Amino acid sequence: MNDLVDTEGAADAVRREFERVHGRAPEGVWAAPGRVNLIGEHTDYNDGFCLPMALPRTTVLAAGRRDDGLLRLHSTRGGEGRITELRVAELAPGGVTGWARYPAGVVWALRERGLPVGGADVHLDSTVPVGAGLSSSAALECAVAVAYDELYGLRLDRPETARVAQYAENAFAGVPCGVMDQMASMCCTEGNALHLDSRTLEVRQVPFDLTGHGLRLLVLDTGVSHDLADGAYAALRAGCERAAGLLGVAALRDLGGADLPAALAGLPPELAPLVRHVVTENERVGQAVDRLAAGAPEALGALLTAGHASLRDDYRVSCAETDLAVAAAVGAGALGARMTGGGFGGSVIALVREDAAEGVARAVAGAFASAGFKPPSVLEAVPSAGARRTA
Ligand code: GLA
Repeated sequence: MNDLVDTEGAADAVRREFERVHGRAPEGVWAAPGRVNLIGEHTDYNDGFCLPMALPRTTVLAAGRRDDGLLRLHSTRGGEGRITELRVAELAPGGVTGWARYPAGVVWALRERGLPVGGADVHLDSTVPVGAGLSSSAALECAVAVAYDELYGLRLDRPETARVAQYAENAFAGVPCGVMDQMASMCCTEGNALHLDSRTLEVRQVPFDLTGHGLRLLVLDTGVSHDLADGAYAALRAGCERAAGLLGVAALRDLGGADLPAALAGLPPELAPLVRHVVTENERVGQAVDRLAAGAPEALGALLTAGHASLRDDYRVSCAETDLAVAAAVGAGALGARMTGGGFGGSVIALVREDAAEGVARAVAGAFASAGFKPPSVLEAVPSAGARRTA
């Protein structure tokens, strides 16, 4: 279960593979992580608050500029060993499919901003599981964005870079996500969770010392692949925007707990639970930050489980597998557990005392076997560094 991944070792392998595939040395190697969100789900596109942390799992990417306007992409994980060759000046939304749409989208988004970027040779590899709700696409986008920033001397700051990556995902890849995943990949730091204000993109690093408190954070990947492009996410987002309009606020972030009774009374029945989730979830983020600041990370547990109930009952983005993983983890002594990310499958996080970790993982696997679900995979999350140059 120990999941400390060796990004520096991976950087050497990626550099060597770049040399083999592209027949030249790269100008650098960069890495950007996936994330788990501790609390604050479906709040980002409501201008609200989140508390993600970066995983030790990263996309590692070697790159070197080309002066002929070609973007030549190669990945260990996709494309069956082929190079995808694209003409940068001709990139357009909808024109690239598969994994290559994320890196191509970032280059397109930089050019849409009027930035002077051209071609590149790229090779990449990733240890972020795909389709597990752990932001493998944001890791890929942010790795490309930091590489391009340095190669082409753009000097974008980290929140701006996250916005470029989000724009690539929204407008080029067609996924209507908020900004949390890209902000987490760009702005997280080792040992900390990231308190993010999605309206202003202000961030605060909040120390999250798991080992010092005898705790572990397990990530249970249900193996149920979610797909944010499939319409359900967009429909929820549209529902929140409609509710904000009916309530006369710019975004649901502008409502507090005290506004809830009146707000809920005036809304159509299909919108009221969405608003209740977003408002209570923003409050849970504030409480989680207070508990971490007070040096009591174990006290996050109850908030995680309450957050899951809200996602299950009000927002309705959980599924049988995530509900079962949460119930089994808590039943086996986890301090708290919840689904993380967009939902409809993906992963569950469980906060556990060190000596309960094996038992919780076993209990979830046992419950999955009894229910006839395929075995979950277990990773361990430690608050890790954001996007960076590694070599
Ligand atoms: C996905 C999206 C994020 C966020 C979460 C839900 O991960 O990419 O922007 O909306 O779902 O919190």
